[in-house]
Amino acid sequence: MLKHLHYGLTTVLALSTALPALADVNIYSARHYDSDDEIYAAFTEATGIEVNRIEGDSDELIARMQAEGANSPADIFLTVDAGWMWRADQAGLLAPVDSDVLNTRIPEFLRHPDGHWFGMSQRARIIWYAKDRVENPPQTYEDLADPQYAGQICIRSSTNVYNQSLMSSIIAANGEEAARAWAEGVRANMARDPQGGDTDQLRGIVSGECDIAVANTYYFLRGLTGDVDGLTDSIDQIGWVWPNQNGRGTHTNVAAMALTANAPNPDDAVAFMEFMTTEFAQTHFADQNNEYPAVPGVPLGEGVASMGFFIPDNTTGTAVYGANAGKATEIFNAVGWP
Ligand code: FE2
Repeated sequence: MLKHLHYGLTTVLALSTALPALADVNIYSARHYDSDDEIYAAFTEATGIEVNRIEGDSDELIARMQAEGANSPADIFLTVDAGWMWRADQAGLLAPVDSDVLNTRIPEFLRHPDGHWFGMSQRARIIWYAKDRVENPPQTYEDLADPQYAGQICIRSSTNVYNQSLMSSIIAANGEEAARAWAEGVRANMARDPQGGDTDQLRGIVSGECDIAVANTYYFLRGLTGDVDGLTDSIDQIGWVWPNQNGRGTHTNVAAMALTANAPNPDDAVAFMEFMTTEFAQTHFADQNNEYPAVPGVPLGEGVASMGFFIPDNTTGTAVYGANAGKATEIFNAVGWP
């Protein structure tokens, strides 16, 4: 459900209230962090442009923009997986942006080739293992299918967009046939049928149900720096591998932003998008969820820095994730990965 409409920084209005038709910038955001407000306030201070925000899940926001059509007040769509951006793009909801600032600051593999969307932060999906039970943890995504790990692996459902994007990257790197064999192997190695979110895969290591898990790094860091039930107390038991460091690199996804096709305030929207590539915005945006900045050279937050450095897969390109999603789903279904 759409929960809050933040008008400026203080007033919370009911869902039914329409956004005001001012020369503001209106953001439909699938990110749910109050700390985003700090970035928006800095943008307003720098430019005089007010920021209005509607929050919701990606599918709800896409449906809403479709329903609103040409009358949509949305200028910017903001979501947390390149797969979602692809869906919005397929629905004709995004407009291309040709900005030297964006094209220079955001690396090619983190944005749409024709500027339909741009990554704002990087999220790494990696391999975790029980230090006391796994002597030779998998070093690559491909290793997860090795029969030596039979009965050991926990990974969430194939309906999850993160796994669909991971599979899409494997299709891009190895081809469809190899991707199918990989999925069969991982399915055969599962410690249990997929259940829960990324945090639950890490909890499975702590509880002893899983020896090896796949999850995004920020779920671990949430447990490390905060207090996550069933994880924080025994988090020392968990080790990690940055996969494919001797090959194409670690699978990374993006939180991303796009100009909408019907944006009432396109110039302000592009100014907002460019502001999001400043060191200030990049630092804040990535830090609040322990993600990695999209812009090279921006200092890492304390949490992610504590995990060490890795080479991301910058050969595949996040833009192929959505394009391969149909094939990914077919393969998941064919091998019986729920
Ligand atoms: Fe997530």
